[in-house]
Amino acid sequence: MNPELRHSAPLLDAYLSYFEGSKTAFTIPGHKQKAHRLDPGLGAVVDSDIPLYGGLDEIKLTKGTLRKAEELAATLWGADYARFSTGGSTHANQATTLSLGKPGDKIAVARTAHRSVLSALVLSGLEPIWLAPEIDQASGFPIGISLSELERVLEQKPIAVLLTEPSYLGTLSDLPALISKAHSHSIPVVIDAAWGGHFGFHSDLPKHVMQLGADALITSIHKTLPGYSASALLLVQGKLLNLNQIEQSFETTHTTSPAGAPLASIDGTRALLETRGEELIGTLLGNISEFKSAVQANFDVQVFIEAKDFPTGRFDPAKIVLKANALGLSGIDLETELQKVNIRVEMADQDTLVFLATIADSAEDFKDLENKLVPILKSLQGPARQTQTSLSWSVVPTYGASVREAFFADTEFVKVADAFARISADLIAPYPPGVAVVAPGEVLTEQIVYGLAATKTAGVRIAYASDSTLETFRVIK
Ligand SMILES: Cc1ncc(COP(=O)(O)O)c(C=O)c1O
Repeated sequence: MNPELRHSAPLLDAYLSYFEGSKTAFTIPGHKQKAHRLDPGLGAVVDSDIPLYGGLDEIKLTKGTLRKAEELAATLWGADYARFSTGGSTHANQATTLSLGKPGDKIAVARTAHRSVLSALVLSGLEPIWLAPEIDQASGFPIGISLSELERVLEQKPIAVLLTEPSYLGTLSDLPALISKAHSHSIPVVIDAAWGGHFGFHSDLPKHVMQLGADALITSIHKTLPGYSASALLLVQGKLLNLNQIEQSFETTHTTSPAGAPLASIDGTRALLETRGEELIGTLLGNISEFKSAVQANFDVQVFIEAKDFPTGRFDPAKIVLKANALGLSGIDLETELQKVNIRVEMADQDTLVFLATIADSAEDFKDLENKLVPILKSLQGPARQTQTSLSWSVVPTYGASVREAFFADTEFVKVADAFARISADLIAPYPPGVAVVAPGEVLTEQIVYGLAATKTAGVRIAYASDSTLETFRVIK
């Protein structure tokens, strides 16, 4: 490996050094990196695992390796404080939200928020004031929260604003305007940027949200960056947010036995971005652009969503979103065909298909995708279809009880015919994108019940419903 990268990444160095030395551990983890003695399969899974305590650092954390690595990340992203999580953006969202206020306080939350933000509302008892996304008429995509939508809720005096940027489809709000408006009321802005870890490291990408003045940034290192599964980064400015409170909340909700590999991967990714981010992302953007042009050359209609479809800087150019409806085919059928030729995609619904590309992909990988994709598209192509705004973006929620009340309420299952006007105890979301069509405490309407059934019939997985068949709904008694 690159010795320079290792030298500049203390956790990555500690991880590699562990395996270069030899210690006899009478400590956890119970596999002792020797599980191959018990079973080769089990060994293949666990023998490269070391913990933070007694692995990346001494049991008493005397070397401060994690703190050093977190400080390097804070410096790179221009934050006062950084924490590495092994629990994904899920944990970082929950920890940050928990730190914001007291049960009953109101926070403005983008309705496009991930499930983890809703679970954070249960944990924290904070009451959401939903911010509805603006929908782009041409693409049917959510294009973020408008300034007027934020202004509408400010008079209800939220203690913080929680946004999800970029969206699953790569679109972004006008963040400088939103942040400046919230700050003019001294309200902190926390941004779940789970899909924006690469932002800010190439001049053709949107800036990352700390550069735009946000108070907190949460991102998954395993999504658009080459980190270990469930590795995530939390970055915070201390002006409007209480760093001690965030530290307390982070530790309260994180495992006491963090695995070393995810932590070392965050550190290694940080070092990679710092030293070669511009070069690697430049190559990726070049490959994506060539791939899209090569596919597009076969069709008269626009195949992919492009940055030019949105206001400047409001779309992630690294996102590959195929407009299945423009080719008159179903994104879900296309996914099935691609699976047959061993291509996996990140998301498919009726109108769209998302390919996640990262700096780990090579020009050959894109060529392979092009060679397999083009013939399938040609064979399935039909007359273009108008886009139907996905259910996740179009439901207007009706309040029945707080998210927390609904979580702890006595509940029962009712048949579809009896579900209308009842208060849902479940969060129900087509997955991906995992955005709630109904949140706990909201009223089940015809649009929701029939819309979920239609989405399921179209082949989208409906997540989190207690009865995944959707024959019954779990409602508050
Ligand atoms: C917007 C958003 N936030 C948070 C998460 C949770 O991230 P993780 O899987 O790292 O816990 C996801 C996962 O898909 C997401 O899409």
